[in-house]
Amino acid sequence: MENKEAIVFVVDDEKSVQVSLKMILKDRYRVFTFTHPEDALLKLSLEPDLIFTDIRMFSMNGLEFLEKVKKIKPQTEVIMITAYPDFSSSLKALREGAFDYIVKPFGKEQVLNAAERALQKRIQTIENRRIIHDLRKAIELNYEATTKSLVLAVDAKDSYTAEHSRRTSQLLAILGKRIGIPEHKLTVYKRAAELHDIGKIGIEEKILRKKGALTSYEFEKIKQHPVIGYQILRPTTFLQEGLDIVLYHHESYDGSGYPEGLKGKKIPFPARLFTIIDAYDAMTTERCYKGKLSCREAIEEIINAKGKQFDPELVDLVIPHFLKLERDGYLHNL
Ligand SMILES: [Fe+2]
Repeated sequence: MENKEAIVFVVDDEKSVQVSLKMILKDRYRVFTFTHPEDALLKLSLEPDLIFTDIRMFSMNGLEFLEKVKKIKPQTEVIMITAYPDFSSSLKALREGAFDYIVKPFGKEQVLNAAERALQKRIQTIENRRIIHDLRKAIELNYEATTKSLVLAVDAKDSYTAEHSRRTSQLLAILGKRIGIPEHKLTVYKRAAELHDIGKIGIEEKILRKKGALTSYEFEKIKQHPVIGYQILRPTTFLQEGLDIVLYHHESYDGSGYPEGLKGKKIPFPARLFTIIDAYDAMTTERCYKGKLSCREAIEEIINAKGKQFDPELVDLVIPHFLKLERDGYLHNL
């Protein structure tokens, strides 16, 4: 591959090595030579595609230099130059991420060949990264569209679901962040929250829309929605860690919830947290069968249900954040 644009650094404290490598490489690449590795590090902003570096230098060991380069520019390929067969250092360099090594005295073809292979690898790496990035993007987009369709499908039966899902998911995201849930976990929880009532798709419309109290038969039917939702979402790969929210969001801390009647800390953490948020949103929203409470009243209700419906420690942890969000006007504008 001939690539006049590729930038190659040559780092060696022996001037003669710098000169001979430059002579070999200059017709194909833009070559910069350095006597001191420190100077080469300062010029990494030039985005070198490839670096030839001596393995033994006065001011900085070649392995140390390699480590620093890989930390700052992991995509830059590095070829070590060694003056004698120093296999342990060369092997160590390869383990630390060097592409290859050449032994002095080297021939023109050997150098050009090594440079060519290293640059090919770099192109391949960049291409692979681009493909992975594009694939992730496609999955993300597909995920957004899938979630939207699923939520809208339930919403068609129970018009409350889409907005309730959006609000609870949003509230989970902000509260979760404030109590220190790592971002990668929160992303999955948020997605699961958006779909937590998806199982309502399997419940008769007339039960979902019924005004007034449910008969025990109707309530038994409603109680199936977490399991139905879990069965719908179980095959998906992007939600695995969030499935507990779908299956257990109606469990109660005192064991009186459904579908399994789990008690205390046996209820998985994301479900214990989400159930507070779910209840808060249900209390502050008008439904066909009930009026709504103010934010403060709903917060009071949550505190009253400490140790009954909700995990007392989690209530103590999230209530100050609820109050702060209420004072800031966030809860009113959800
Ligand atoms: Fe639910």
